[in-house]
Amino acid sequence: MKGNQMSYNNILFTVEDGIATITFNRPKSLNAMNYETMSELLDVATVCKNDENVKVLILTGAGEKAFVAGADISQMQDMRPAEALSFMELGNETMRFIETMPKPSIAAVNGYALGGGNEIALACDVRFASENALFGQPEISLGMMPGWGGTLRLPRLIGMGRAKELIMGGAHIDAKRAYEIGLVNRVLPADQLMAEARKFAAKLAGLPGFALKMIKHSVNFGYDLALDNAIRLEVESCALCFSTGDQKEGMKAFLEKRKPAFTGR
Ligand code: CAA
Repeated sequence: MKGNQMSYNNILFTVEDGIATITFNRPKSLNAMNYETMSELLDVATVCKNDENVKVLILTGAGEKAFVAGADISQMQDMRPAEALSFMELGNETMRFIETMPKPSIAAVNGYALGGGNEIALACDVRFASENALFGQPEISLGMMPGWGGTLRLPRLIGMGRAKELIMGGAHIDAKRAYEIGLVNRVLPADQLMAEARKFAAKLAGLPGFALKMIKHSVNFGYDLALDNAIRLEVESCALCFSTGDQKEGMKAFLEKRKPAFTGR
């Protein structure tokens, strides 16, 4: 580790002003995810979770063509079922870790987000896409199916019928269509993608971290609970925000008609 830079073989990692940027960096294979890259992603996500200087994560891809073009097909081709199982388990563990970690994540999708690439974007809290981004779950054309949460998160995000159409048909869709069906939050010109992702990340980094953590907790875990249990989770998560100085400051500042000075405590 050098200052805020850590070194990985397949991922670039920087932390600046509370924003961790994780860049998948195998541009020659369109940032395809092999086992090592997925292990590095889990490692760097763990570092981000534990580092109090990190408030928000941005995930993106190196080069101009791809976010991530999926799991590495050359590595998967000869896998036996036991090896495939451990690859899919590692991917799912990593996706769930990012999805449930107490810090927000933004996928800045700068090109192909196919298969496992789309699944990584799905595990993030929000997705910004460049106009040239392409999305899809083309696993069916390889004789397999999504294995890092695509059959689970895609229907939750865009509805079952649309998800089945994409996963069964295996077609790519462009950023405009991805926006129409709610797969991405925003579509931006390619040269503005990272600036807009950083702008939103900077905004989140300045907001009360504990309340953000409780929002994520309530949305993520409340979603799959029976409504009465989910309501309980929400009211208790909300009540816990009242243990923070940021809640006192936020309300005091409102009543004094001034901007709040949040401290993250
Ligand atoms: N795995 C391994 N290598 C890949 C790759 C992948 N997923 N995607 C692209 N590459 C490699 C290509 O093999 C090629 O390598 P060489 O230069 O050594 O030949 C290089 O990246 C550039 O790719 P193309 O020449 O194919 O570029 P293109 O512009 O013609 O096409 C593409 C781009 C449409 C994305 C095409 O590469 C493609 O279809 N890639 C595969 C996409 C895919 O099927 N993803 C799903 C994988 S399965 C999965 O992800 C399972 C899961 O749920 C976990």
